[in-house]
Amino acid sequence: MKKVFDLDADYQPEIFEFNDKFKTSVKEIIARYPEGKQQSAVMPLLDLVQRQVAEEGAKSTPVYGGWVSRAAMDHVAKVLDMHKVKVYEVASFYSMYNTAPVGKYLVQFCSTTPCWLRGSEGIIKATTEHLGIGVGETTVDGKFSLMEVECLGACVNAPMVQINDDYYEDLTADSMTQILDRLSEDLKPTIGSQTGRKASMPCSGTTCLKEQAKKAGVA
Ligand code: FES
Repeated sequence: MKKVFDLDADYQPEIFEFNDKFKTSVKEIIARYPEGKQQSAVMPLLDLVQRQVAEEGAKSTPVYGGWVSRAAMDHVAKVLDMHKVKVYEVASFYSMYNTAPVGKYLVQFCSTTPCWLRGSEGIIKATTEHLGIGVGETTVDGKFSLMEVECLGACVNAPMVQINDDYYEDLTADSMTQILDRLSEDLKPTIGSQTGRKASMPCSGTTCLKEQAKKAGVA
């Protein structure tokens, strides 16, 4: 999905500063890098921006999620003594940085081949119908935003979605809408496989070579 990146949009706030809690993390992160290489901290600092904004957004009405504003990118550039455009380049390249406002729960649908073969289109359809919004949109109460992304590395338990920091796997239309219902009440759904599958074991349950040998009549 094409990422929104409008540095002059009306929704851009005038200022951004890390609050006291996040300032401590900023110092710790920068200290991990050798002298003169502090600019390497740009990615974790942009992540901290999003987490601070998400915390603020959770207390706001309507609620909103974590995103990286122009003011925040400029602030990170100042903290790391680097050109603003270099920070813009990083933030606009990676899908994990939201460069426009998003809902409190950002649903990222994986629709790359393994998830698509296992029914990601049905998961997207169930979600858009349940929430009444399309991909790229946010619900009016600020709770949910939808976006489509490329492979999230959990193909073995396809189809799956990422919502904020959590993965939900082995989805069906029903389990997806149950997850949305719990989140809409700010309750924590069960993360990971929705069928109880452990890691990448077969859908039919665990197997072992002994069992296979017995079936083959060679045990
Ligand atoms: S294709 Fe969906 S997680 Fe890899």
